[in-house]
Amino acid sequence: MPTPRVLFVCHTGSISGAELVLLDLVVPWAGQSAFLFEQGPLRQALADRGLNVSVSHSAQSFSGVRRDSSLLKVIPIVSGMVAVIRELIGAARRHDVVYANSQKAFVLSAVAAWLSRRPLIWHLHDIISPAHFGAAQRRIQVFLANRCAVRVIVPSRVAADAFIAEGGRRNLVTVVPNGLDIAPETAAPAEIRRELDLPAGPLIGVFSRLAEWKGQHVVLQALSKISDVHCIIAGSALFGEEAYEERLRAMVRDLDIVNRVQFLGQRSDVPRLMRAMDAVVHPSIDPEPFGRTLVEAMLADVPVIASDAGAASDILEDGKAGTLVRPGDADGLAAAITQVLDRTPAIAEQVRYAETRARSHYGVTQMIDVISALIRGAAAPKAAC
Ligand code: GLC
Repeated sequence: MPTPRVLFVCHTGSISGAELVLLDLVVPWAGQSAFLFEQGPLRQALADRGLNVSVSHSAQSFSGVRRDSSLLKVIPIVSGMVAVIRELIGAARRHDVVYANSQKAFVLSAVAAWLSRRPLIWHLHDIISPAHFGAAQRRIQVFLANRCAVRVIVPSRVAADAFIAEGGRRNLVTVVPNGLDIAPETAAPAEIRRELDLPAGPLIGVFSRLAEWKGQHVVLQALSKISDVHCIIAGSALFGEEAYEERLRAMVRDLDIVNRVQFLGQRSDVPRLMRAMDAVVHPSIDPEPFGRTLVEAMLADVPVIASDAGAASDILEDGKAGTLVRPGDADGLAAAITQVLDRTPAIAEQVRYAETRARSHYGVTQMIDVISALIRGAAAPKAAC
């Protein structure tokens, strides 16, 4: 069978977890196409991997369509959506398979794939549940998936279960854990800290975009309950969550921990930063669909403390590969931080185990091979929507 022509569709031009996954999985698909709804650094990153990238002429940002938007709030931008769907139909017709890499990309791609009679794969990086989406959004997504997708790829069992619980067809779903390919960082933590001007004492880090459900505020509360521990917060408010960032900055002042917390913004040297930490904290208050940074931290040889919910519990093997705490429990988190920073032999053993587990379970080659096979399967005759 000749190589199928694939159109990868993204709603955003920013690079967050889902886009980092995409950037890895397109590697064997150089020469194929990507279509973005808006400009941003993702465009160049995809082009660097050999994709022909086009950006919607309506260059429409759908960040106004919040996960909890009611239908009414969505109506004013419907005309923009129609324009994008038109462009997508034209692009889909020149390809054999459409691959939507997010929920917003999927909804518009589903309509376009339906009208252009092209098979559609949805890489669903979210947990479809009331915590993340309004009722109308959940119904529309599941209806379109059941009607238009030939495959729904999810990164974890919890994401699969949530899709099925909302009425999604079980036989559509394939669980493909995110895979990471990170060259081992060899510099000594102390050296990295000196170079990046980070504090020398006990230091923890939080790595994810700033969003309330990602739970950075719980770490600040925990920090205020323990002395001497410093914290870096890497990540920025990517999808209209600036108010939350303001709230975090105000909390730091109110809790009087200004000189123990540094906001680093979006970083491209995360593995290096992680290696310099005494612990990485992953504090999501809602279940995480996957949590790439958990695996990054495991690969960086650093103890991980994470909320016991969603995919984190599986990735950390129910506590064997990291320390699990109750989501949103600042006291529990403070106690866990204190315990982990003691770096007992048990924690050192946990870190060794986590590194081995990350390498054996979350390799990038594994992910790329499975997804490439799914794309080829979708392109086979008869697969169309
Ligand atoms: C989304 C999810 C995160 C996951 C990433 C890649 O950002 O919130 O859990 O790691 O997608 O799948």
